[in-house]
Amino acid sequence: MAFFSGNKQADDQDETAKNIFLFELVQKNILVTGANGQLGSEIRRISANHENNFKFFFTDVAELDITDLQAIDRFIKENNIKYIINCAAYTAVDKAEDDVDLCYKINRDAAKNLGIAATNNNAKVIHVSTDYVYDGTANKPYVETDAVNPQSIYGKSKLDGENELTKACPESIIIRTAWLYSIYGNNFVKTMIKLGKERDTLNVIADQTGTPTNAADLAQAIIKILDFSEANKFIPGIYHYSNEGITTWYDFTLAIHKDAGITSCKVNSITTDQYPTKATRPKYSVLEKAKIKSTFNLSIPKWEESLNICIKELLSI
Ligand SMILES: NC(=O)c1ccc[n+]([C@@H]2O[C@H](COP(=O)([O-])OP(=O)(O)OC[C@H]3O[C@@H](n4cnc5c(N)ncnc54)[C@H](OP(=O)(O)O)[C@@H]3O)[C@@H](O)[C@H]2O)c1
Repeated sequence: MAFFSGNKQADDQDETAKNIFLFELVQKNILVTGANGQLGSEIRRISANHENNFKFFFTDVAELDITDLQAIDRFIKENNIKYIINCAAYTAVDKAEDDVDLCYKINRDAAKNLGIAATNNNAKVIHVSTDYVYDGTANKPYVETDAVNPQSIYGKSKLDGENELTKACPESIIIRTAWLYSIYGNNFVKTMIKLGKERDTLNVIADQTGTPTNAADLAQAIIKILDFSEANKFIPGIYHYSNEGITTWYDFTLAIHKDAGITSCKVNSITTDQYPTKATRPKYSVLEKAKIKSTFNLSIPKWEESLNICIKELLSI
């Protein structure tokens, strides 16, 4: 390709063409699915800071239904996608117990679709999974090689999704996360703030232990993994990511109310038995994060700090 002619106007045009050409060589195309959800929205929010390296294509079910293999394949081809970040999922944990087929269609079959389309087009997948693949009987943080034993339809469908994805596309990174919240969407933090303002008392489960995850932190971690993959190499496998620390839903609620300045609501601790739900949750789902930290050179904020940041943002909206 000739870029310089000696003619000033033509040279300027050629220079622009050259820059676009080089930019496109450097920039990698990223497909984000389920982009209107909590995690997808957080990735969208920080994507502008990474436009030198990555061109993002944000899609949710209206633009790209991941249960449609042909549509995914076409999208990847047409847009020369190098990485897929799958934020799409069926996440209504209790509803899933009755809505089994749709839950499996999205969490298992669609994950397989992404794997097939990625392999066909030489793309790589970063997929998000859950602490609900564990049964919660452990008494120390779960490592990625610990036995899985999901207790709910949601957990089972997510585990099947991990397995189907890896079979279809061994070049996949799977990140198991937990207790996700964000300024976007509906989540525990927003619900506790709302109820804390409306009610005098609130009963919250104190015998389920885990770690919250600010979706903004997970979004940053995923971008860092992309940066790492471009600078070094893509290292497939299963990884854990949550914020640092350990808490219960009860203590989490106390922290939410403290940060949100809610003093008029008394929070009572109750047991899981006193608050029956359709789906069984793990009693203990703290995730050990040494692998993701050392592989990708990540540091992870403590849950209290990340909660504080989210609540400040929520209060300023
Ligand atoms: N939320 C948690 O506490 C939690 C905990 C552990 C792990 N995770 C995992 O973390 C990931 C992100 O969770 P999140 O909380 O950000 O989820 P979310 O807010 O529920 O977002 C999921 C998005 O996927 C979309 N979607 C559903 N079906 C789709 C389809 N067929 N094609 C394309 N998009 C589709 C949803 O659209 P609709 O809203 O229209 O259905 C929604 O916008 C998921 O893999 C989830 O399993 C979440």
